[in-house]
Amino acid sequence: MSEQLAIYGGPKAKTTENFPMYPGGLEIGEEEKKEVMEVLDNKYLFRYYGPAGAESKVKKFEQAFAKKMGSKYCLATSSCTGALLSAMTACGIGPGDEVIVPGYTFFASCATIVGAKAIPVIAEVDETLTIDPEDIKKKITPSTKGIICVHMRGVPCDMDRILPIAKEHNLVVIEDCAQACGVTYKGKCVGTFGDAGCFSFQYHKTITAGEGGAVLCQDERIYDRACSYHDTAACWRPDRFAEQRYEGELFCGSNFRMGELAGAVMCAQLNRLDYLNEAMRRHLAIIKEGIKDTKGISVRPCNDAAGDAGICLMFYLDSREKVAPFAEALTAEGVPAAGVFNAGIPDWHIYAHWKHVLNEKAPTAIKCPWDCPYHKAQPVKYAEDMCPNTLEYLGRVIHIDLPAQMTDEDAHMIVKAINKVAEVLA
Ligand SMILES: Cc1ncc(COP(=O)(O)O)c(C=O)c1O
Repeated sequence: MSEQLAIYGGPKAKTTENFPMYPGGLEIGEEEKKEVMEVLDNKYLFRYYGPAGAESKVKKFEQAFAKKMGSKYCLATSSCTGALLSAMTACGIGPGDEVIVPGYTFFASCATIVGAKAIPVIAEVDETLTIDPEDIKKKITPSTKGIICVHMRGVPCDMDRILPIAKEHNLVVIEDCAQACGVTYKGKCVGTFGDAGCFSFQYHKTITAGEGGAVLCQDERIYDRACSYHDTAACWRPDRFAEQRYEGELFCGSNFRMGELAGAVMCAQLNRLDYLNEAMRRHLAIIKEGIKDTKGISVRPCNDAAGDAGICLMFYLDSREKVAPFAEALTAEGVPAAGVFNAGIPDWHIYAHWKHVLNEKAPTAIKCPWDCPYHKAQPVKYAEDMCPNTLEYLGRVIHIDLPAQMTDEDAHMIVKAINKVAEVLA
């Protein structure tokens, strides 16, 4: 006879404290303080100049991050949004272009396409909840210029299938690694496969400075042009007073520079990345092993399980009706859980809620980029139900955060809770 569910008054399966999902944020300690105090003591708060004798923390972070990720170049930015916009511009995405983006990602991946004055084309995700390579092929038109591959919720995209498609059609590949710091695909860090890889160091992310981002790239021109765009108009090129070195180096940009205080925090946070990833991966492995034979649930497949960041567990039930009661029961067992797609709650990670794009909202009466005279393909059409597979998967999935601070014992209790609830409600 199984134990009564906590939601019906039985004992909780998990009795320990739950941590919020701020993996790097909760670790902030003496190392971060030391780095920040050096910046303040030196009065060196701007990466490009300050009192003599101090080295830039932003530059130090860029060098260390590039090395850690196995990338030739790294540009630190103030956010992943700024990184995406700088990378797209650097890669030549602009008016008249279409860019394919998955229907499950934070809205920023899509909004920055519009920011670059290109038209977003929304594609299905597959069961891994990353972009479906088959749907990429269907969405390509003569105006397609690029693909945004989002390594969503810590799972790497299927790069072995995506890269040949991009090569065949001469498309730019930008990796959105905001939720995938330290994720690998076949042993190589994500962010180093495409033309550019963009990271977020916002507070919810694995390592953080509260806000922050980075662009990785392997091509000197792309790096140069990303530097130009992120810094208003290439103000701080190697020689700020020189003429442009090649056509395309100088153009008007924005300001997405990372400040020295954020750079200092990131120098310390980077040293935490390995142990945070190791802990989260271990917990995910314990839980996956513990529920692999559980009837009625199937864990989200991964394109490379060894490289999964382990930031969360996502598993499918066989019908969407079961999701809310299952999540409620798990939460009552002491394991905070939630469904993902609910038409009534505007979650900005799901395209069906991207009203600004679905209704082609622009800040002025000219509907740029949708009315762009340079766009030569058929007009791009949007509808709330245009990616039915994506909504089907998201409607049946349950999400549980796996904070790095939890213990292996916690992971075993989560297994117990899932199995207990599944026996009754799956
Ligand atoms: C997939 C994805 N892309 C982009 C972003 C934007 O990152 P930022 O807040 O650093 O601009 C986020 C942030 O949550 C994200 O999850």
